[in-house]
Amino acid sequence: MQKKICINKIIPTYKKTIEVSSDKSLSIRTVLLASQALGISKISNLLDSDDVVNTLKAIKKLGIAYKKKNNNYEIYGCGLNGYKPKKNLVINAGNSGTLARLILGLLVKTKYQIKVIGDKSLSKRDFLRVSEPLKLFGASLELKKNSLPVKIQGTKYLRPINHLENLGSAQCKSTIMLAALNAPGSTKITAKKSRNHTELLFKYLKIPIKIRSTKNYDLIEVKGLSQFKSFNYYIPGDISSSAFFIVLTLLSKKSEIKIKKVNINDSRIGIIKILNRMNSKIIFKNKKTYKGEKIADIHVKSNKNLVSINCPSSLNSAAIDEFLVIFLVAAKAKGVSKFKNLSELNKKESPRLDIAIKFLKMIGIKVKKNKDNVEIYGNPNLSLNGKYLVKNFLKDHRIFMMSCIAALSFGGKWTISDKDSINTSFPKFLTILKNLGADIN
Ligand code: S3P
Repeated sequence: MQKKICINKIIPTYKKTIEVSSDKSLSIRTVLLASQALGISKISNLLDSDDVVNTLKAIKKLGIAYKKKNNNYEIYGCGLNGYKPKKNLVINAGNSGTLARLILGLLVKTKYQIKVIGDKSLSKRDFLRVSEPLKLFGASLELKKNSLPVKIQGTKYLRPINHLENLGSAQCKSTIMLAALNAPGSTKITAKKSRNHTELLFKYLKIPIKIRSTKNYDLIEVKGLSQFKSFNYYIPGDISSSAFFIVLTLLSKKSEIKIKKVNINDSRIGIIKILNRMNSKIIFKNKKTYKGEKIADIHVKSNKNLVSINCPSSLNSAAIDEFLVIFLVAAKAKGVSKFKNLSELNKKESPRLDIAIKFLKMIGIKVKKNKDNVEIYGNPNLSLNGKYLVKNFLKDHRIFMMSCIAALSFGGKWTISDKDSINTSFPKFLTILKNLGADIN
């Protein structure tokens, strides 16, 4: 199978309406919650990607049955702590940090030791951030060099915890919230603000949860051992997948795009807030609320008058998966853009901050880095005609997709490796690009 793609031309002008893949965070969370709900949950428009397939395989190994009809799933939950794992069970989370971390939260009460493994990229990522709080609940965890494989042994004698989540990580917060489901009493988390899908799902499922918000933190209290019923859920489009088309459209000539039914939850739209401060004029139409989430169509037009931003780090968590493409906009904006406190960006599927800096330098953009702060010197006349090769050693899906957007926006002759990486989150990515008129071989 051909793993590399070549792009030698910028994308021609387009005016189109598209639908991107379904939200990955919500897909993984709804499958995991359905696996502990009592009864048959129906999830429609589930993301068809490797991370979600691995989530479905994981619950199946834990004894939870499901049926698939197109992208609609029926999941046969057996209630709280209803998993029936066999001895020596191994769960393979593949590339998914969300799956590997969140499922550990659901395993704190299981009878036998379970091993969670992942691919090369995931096995380099930090798991201490979840193992330490999970040990406080009473579970036993063994890590290899602070990462996967992780062996977890649950306990019947769980206790609730008080935890400070200071990274702004929704994965850590959600892992603790899921562990709290099976622990007696009230677990209290003081969490730096991050995406809040788990909180909204708990509220919708009537799981006892109280949230008190301050400017930068949410004080979350979850009361455990409260059985919840199965549910129906429709998964909207993913803002993180939309991001590639938003940026492509902004940077291309006289183009226009409408992206239908995207989740525009406030804790996810950091990219829109950042790009609008850069003068991009992105708008939402047909806004609706769905089970606590917000859904809308996103309208974007090309823009020649992009300006730099001094980005407040309070927007970092809400834009964490989108910085790669935000940096492409900064590369073409007038002035020097400043981003700070981005250390978490180096803890993703690959060290994205370091890779982005190398990438920007490769295309001739001046970048200054000081610890985890970056300054990008934009060039509104940026137009490339050299040869560019993107190797992407850790097969990071977002590095691949960002490189395609750069090639289609700035020109030059590009060879970009590891096209299969898109199967992690956005298998339709290249098909949609080709439908917009991109010439990709
Ligand atoms: C995610 C949270 C983010 C994000 C990841 C998905 C989630 O990670 O980068 O792609 O679904 O909770 P962190 O919570 O580690 O920042």
